[in-house]
Amino acid sequence: MWVRALEIILAIAIFSFGFVLLFGAPYLPTMKKQVKAAIKLAGLKPGQTILELGSGDGRVLIAAAQAGLNAVGYELNPLLFLYSYLRTRRYHKQIKVVFGNFWRQSWPKCDAIYVFLLPRLMSKLDRKIRTEGLAKVIVISFAFKFSELTPVNEEQGVFAYRLK
Ligand SMILES: C[S@@+](CC[C@H](N)C(=O)[O-])C[C@H]1O[C@@H](n2cnc3c(N)ncnc32)[C@H](O)[C@@H]1O
Repeated sequence: MWVRALEIILAIAIFSFGFVLLFGAPYLPTMKKQVKAAIKLAGLKPGQTILELGSGDGRVLIAAAQAGLNAVGYELNPLLFLYSYLRTRRYHKQIKVVFGNFWRQSWPKCDAIYVFLLPRLMSKLDRKIRTEGLAKVIVISFAFKFSELTPVNEEQGVFAYRLK
C-alpha cells in the first residue's frame, strides 16, 4: 500500500519535472546572491512590474514583491506552480502566478523580464519578446547571454539587456 503510494508520488514528480523539458529549461533555482543582483539590475521603481518566464518555486517573485514591485510568473511544472502559488499567497496583491507554457501565452505589459533558461532558447526568447511588443523593456538573464547582443550591465553572472 505505502510502496504503491510512493510509486505514484514518484511518477507524478518525474512526469512534472520531466515533461517541461519538451518546452524549455529544467528546474534549477536562481541562488540568493543572483536573485538580489537580478532585482537590482532590473532597476525598477516600486509599483512597476517584472515578468518571470519559468518562475520555479517563486523565489524571484517574492524578492520582487519585497522590493515593492508587482510580479507575474509563468510556470509549466504543475508541482512548482502549486508550491509557488501557495508560497506567494501572502503577496497576492503584488504577485500573480500563471500555470502554463509561456511560449504560447500572450504576455502582460511589464517593465522588466527575468529569465533563467538555456542557451539554445535565447534566440527564440529574443523573437518572442519582440513579437510581444516588449523590446523596450529591460531583460535580465541569469547565466545565459543573447549571442547577438551586448549586455548593458552585469553582476554576479546576471546580465541585463536592452533589445532596442
Ligand atoms: C532554470 S529554472 C528557473 C526557475 C526560476 N526562474 C528561478 O530562477 O529560480 C526554469 C524554470 O522554467 C520552467 N519552464 C521551463 N519551460 C517553461 C515554459 N515553456 N513555460 C513555463 N515554464 C517553463 C521550469 O519548470 C523551471 O521551473
